[in-house]
Amino acid sequence: MSKLQTISVRTDPPYEVTIGSGLLKKCGELLRPVLGNCRLAVVADSTVAPLYLDTVTASLKSAGFPVSTCLFPAGEAHKNIKTLTWILDFLADSQLTRSDCVVALGGGVCGDMAGFAAAIYLRGIRYVQLPTTLLAAVDSSVGGKTAIDLSAGKNLVGAFLQPSAVLFDTDCLKTLLPVLFADGAAEAIKTGILDSEELFSLIERGLLRSNPEAAIARCVAYKAGVVERDEKELGERRLLNLGHTIGHGIEISSQFDISHGHAVAAGMAIMARAAEKLGWTAEPVAERIANCLTAYHLPITTDFPPAVLAQAALSDKKRSGDSITIVVPESIGHCVQKTVPVSRLEEIIHAGLED
Ligand SMILES: NC(=O)c1ccc[n+]([C@@H]2O[C@H](COP(=O)([O-])OP(=O)(O)OC[C@H]3O[C@@H](n4cnc5c(N)ncnc54)[C@H](O)[C@@H]3O)[C@@H](O)[C@H]2O)c1
Ligand SMILES: [Zn+2]
Repeated sequence: MSKLQTISVRTDPPYEVTIGSGLLKKCGELLRPVLGNCRLAVVADSTVAPLYLDTVTASLKSAGFPVSTCLFPAGEAHKNIKTLTWILDFLADSQLTRSDCVVALGGGVCGDMAGFAAAIYLRGIRYVQLPTTLLAAVDSSVGGKTAIDLSAGKNLVGAFLQPSAVLFDTDCLKTLLPVLFADGAAEAIKTGILDSEELFSLIERGLLRSNPEAAIARCVAYKAGVVERDEKELGERRLLNLGHTIGHGIEISSQFDISHGHAVAAGMAIMARAAEKLGWTAEPVAERIANCLTAYHLPITTDFPPAVLAQAALSDKKRSGDSITIVVPESIGHCVQKTVPVSRLEEIIHAGLED
């Protein structure tokens, strides 16, 4: 087994993110010292369950945990109130108490939804994240944002609850479709742009494929720092929305045919080009960002017209009254928040679309 990477997230309470090959087989013994004596309810979707559920439950049981399992149909379309109710009923039927724990085994959909169930069941019980997608490993499993979607929009109902532990088994990457690997790569590239020239150039040179443990650990360490300083997204944490305003517009305009990661990739490329054209950057960034995204088979533009994108993007949570805060890459490793009038968004998107 390759060397484990461990990152401490110093929230209150703190927790550790552990990354490495073969972790699911050892999840029971790794979680035992963290969770103590308790019952576990493992939540997984219909795609992940046949791949990894037996390994996880066997390991948890051999470490002495009583385990029950709750399955739901895979896909963002099921990240809704109906599935949430199903999970909550399952927790109640399994007679989980306040000292017990939910285990989210899966991608961001499972983590967000099982985490939200844990946040509200009995007014809050513990949960751990066993992410199985690259996106969940680098982004959604860390930071304690949990949510479900409403028909009016994504992630509109949720809560902040930090997990008690996060274990990412990098072997899960082997079964991930290339398109889902690319989704996660988009969030990792975003992290590189936010964090540093060093991390961005490592990702640029292929670190996500050559040494995923190291790349994911660096991304998680960056996110952990931001979350420690701004757990409830009142300031700095909003930087993690780089590419997300325009990306959100693309997701909505495509009626969610274009996945989150792909939409964010195009959103970052468009934002970088716009920033350069509008004189907001301190160095050329757009071509480098576009080339890196392309190397990971991600899109760097969209066919939706600026007016359509702007209107869709403005239905986003990041809007406040007549202004919207966008994240601008001034240079690689340095992004800033910029509040602009809502009326300027279309012009900014226009500047960022290739002519
Ligand atoms: N909480 C946060 O901070 C945060 C951050 C970013 C994204 N998100 C949320 O994350 C979600 C997207 O996450 P996602 O892309 O992981 O989606 P997902 O959980 O739907 O996973 C994508 C697909 O991959 C399958 N899958 C998962 N692991 C697999 C594996 N190892 N091998 C094969 N197939 C596998 C799943 O069954 C699913 O069909 C969105 O709902 C988004 O809102 C949350
Ligand atoms: Zn995202």
